[in-house]
Amino acid sequence: MGSPKQIVLIDANLFTREALQTILQTLPDVAIQVIEAVDDAALAEVVKLDPQVVILNLYPDEEALLAFAGRLNQVLREGTLVVTAAAMESDLIRRAMRQGAREFLPQPFNHDDVRAALESVLALQKAAPRTQTHSGQVVTLFGAKGGVGATTLTTNLAVSLAKEFKEEVIVLDLNLQFGNDALFLNLKSKYSIFDVAKNINTLDIDLLKKTLPHHATGVTLLPSPFRLEDAESINGSHVTRIVQLLKMHYDWVLIDSHPYFNEVSIQALDDSDRILLLSVLDLPTIFNTKRCLELFQKMGYGRDKVRLVLNRYLSYEGADLPEMEQLLQYPIFARIPNQDFNSMVGCVNQGIPITLKMPNSKMSQAVVEMMNLLVGHDNSKEHPAAAKSGLFGLWKK
Ligand SMILES: Nc1ncnc2c1ncn2[C@@H]1O[C@H](COP(=O)(O)OP(=O)(O)OP(=O)(O)O)[C@@H](O)[C@H]1O
Ligand SMILES: [Mg+2]
Repeated sequence: MGSPKQIVLIDANLFTREALQTILQTLPDVAIQVIEAVDDAALAEVVKLDPQVVILNLYPDEEALLAFAGRLNQVLREGTLVVTAAAMESDLIRRAMRQGAREFLPQPFNHDDVRAALESVLALQKAAPRTQTHSGQVVTLFGAKGGVGATTLTTNLAVSLAKEFKEEVIVLDLNLQFGNDALFLNLKSKYSIFDVAKNINTLDIDLLKKTLPHHATGVTLLPSPFRLEDAESINGSHVTRIVQLLKMHYDWVLIDSHPYFNEVSIQALDDSDRILLLSVLDLPTIFNTKRCLELFQKMGYGRDKVRLVLNRYLSYEGADLPEMEQLLQYPIFARIPNQDFNSMVGCVNQGIPITLKMPNSKMSQAVVEMMNLLVGHDNSKEHPAAAKSGLFGLWKK
């Protein structure tokens, strides 16, 4: 059975502290330490106790307590941070997650919620210990509009990374309703993210790695749900936990997102090291791109995190690039040429990424170039200034 799990409860509110302590005491195999004051001494105490779980009540000053949660998370070695608040709204949950919280306890407390939350964090610790040093890169490909090439570029980037660098790569299809990475890679799977989310507390990662389908290049795929209606059951907390787990076992986690903001995509973006924001040179998409960039800035994402990729680029559009950068006030990280329709349809219908089927095509070479930039953490490319063209004249009218 092993030694009891150390749980530290930090709560300045007598009423909630006693209520939660009473419930915790009924759970088997736990040792509870209570800290009443939220200060540096509390942090020192947590370092000394080195608990498996810390539960923090975001009371009375939510903002200050969120900052404290971040500090707490940094001093935890193997432990997991759980937060509780009087009103657990989605914005608060998201901000607490950014500070490292992995579970949330709604108030008033009830026995089943508390037990389930603890079981969940302890199961995840077992599956993916925090002390494990491996941490892969998480990159989300986010289209500023539907159909701009998120799936095409995710799958091509994935096979290129696996082929060129022999890296362990997993594609996570987070286009939950209409994901089609499986088709693009010609892979069949018995399980989808729906099954993983459902069994997240008891997941055996080694078994999962064996069970998920592998592409000939070695790329693993975690597909989107098979049934449309199952997309609904996946939330932001599932995303965080799945991403956290995968990055400990793969060098690259490439997330193919749906092209709109909701709890799931925002969580994926938050949990990513890099975001490739995909755009094409038409006015509606450029307009959306500008709005995405503005939102990313408000969300606190820096230029190092968000990289702008121009897809389906036509060589005569070179003239528009400096104006696009000027208008968006953002550098273009990579540009992927437009490939002729017939060869693209051939690739998709056969489920062979173009970088494998036509490695010498301009598009494939551009994907490989983008991959090298990503791997090398290189900065954005300069584009030569060019004469004005008509497109941005339309924009300004
Ligand atoms: N560089 C390119 N040149 C030519 N065609 C391309 C290029 N990139 C993508 N396409 C084509 O554009 C279409 C849409 O691509 P894809 O499915 O990858 O977009 P998406 O952003 O994933 O779409 P959705 O929003 O529906 O998920 C496909 O037919 C694909 O073959
Ligand atoms: Mg897609």
